[in-house]
Amino acid sequence: MEKVLREYKIEVVISAVGGESILDQLSLIEAIKNVNTVKRFVPSEFGHDIDRAEPVEPGLTMYEQKRKIRRQIEECGIPYSYICCNSIAAWPYHDNTHPADVLPPLDRFQIYGDGTVKAYFVAGSDIGKFTVMSIDDDRTLNKTVHFQPPSNLLNMNEMASLWETKIGRVLPRVTITEQDLLQRAQEMRIPQSVVAAITHDIFINGCQINFSLDKTTDVEICSLYPNTSFRTIAECFDDFAKKISDNEKAVSKPVTASNTDIFVPTAKPEALAITAICT
Ligand SMILES: NC(=O)c1ccc[n+]([C@@H]2O[C@H](COP(=O)([O-])OP(=O)(O)OC[C@H]3O[C@@H](n4cnc5c(N)ncnc54)[C@H](OP(=O)(O)O)[C@@H]3O)[C@@H](O)[C@H]2O)c1
Repeated sequence: MEKVLREYKIEVVISAVGGESILDQLSLIEAIKNVNTVKRFVPSEFGHDIDRAEPVEPGLTMYEQKRKIRRQIEECGIPYSYICCNSIAAWPYHDNTHPADVLPPLDRFQIYGDGTVKAYFVAGSDIGKFTVMSIDDDRTLNKTVHFQPPSNLLNMNEMASLWETKIGRVLPRVTITEQDLLQRAQEMRIPQSVVAAITHDIFINGCQINFSLDKTTDVEICSLYPNTSFRTIAECFDDFAKKISDNEKAVSKPVTASNTDIFVPTAKPEALAITAICT
């Protein structure tokens, strides 16, 4: 790892290792510490502020691992940005780590609790776009970057109604209670139970909205880039609806990663992205 960082004089490292590999980043941090080329490290977070949120197990274990990575970065004096982009713009299934790969419901909605707790739903393309903008910005150096676009703050009842307008149908709503979510978390099926625990934290505890940005290390992305807009949930739902009209088969069969379009970002000529394995 060190050899790669030195050889290519890597200045920015963005890690997106999955939930089960969070501690693999310890060796990456060690390598970054030993070379002096890295000007910004973005560890694999891309969720909530893990120093504030306190999900039940097994979500908590993953958060503790992410916290351990933060503390190690800070102890080593590595320049960082922590990206807290909140939820992905998609239907928040409680058992799926990649909900953007799946169409919103076509038969019935499962609503968590009374469906009134709000969350920020951010398009994957915007998570990437604003992450890249923020790593080249001194204002985000050693900061926690919160994604809180007002246009993307919705509760589940609003999400359901919006999706109904896109498909032109009203669907039945089923309540998934707090107890249901806790029970699914307690089943300790990985990764589904991790998602259930985090779903509980978002839509029952309100972990995305129950705090103020009152730390000196907090920055909010919209105030940094007021002239750059976020894709709205309505636009993201339009994409899902288009997939249905493009492929009638999708109406009876949920779209999966294997039969949906994958968009691969093209590298700018002046930028060189290196993918490496943490060992
Ligand atoms: N906000 C949200 O809604 C949301 C949703 C999902 C995930 N997340 C967060 O986003 C981050 C990424 O999660 P994900 O679900 O996208 O993960 P993922 O699907 O498991 O993908 C992880 C990627 O990391 C690679 N990887 C794993 N260990 C590695 C290592 N030691 N060195 C190099 N590459 C390694 C994997 O490669 P291989 O395939 O070759 O193993 C895979 O390409 C996590 O921090 C997760 O908590 C947030």
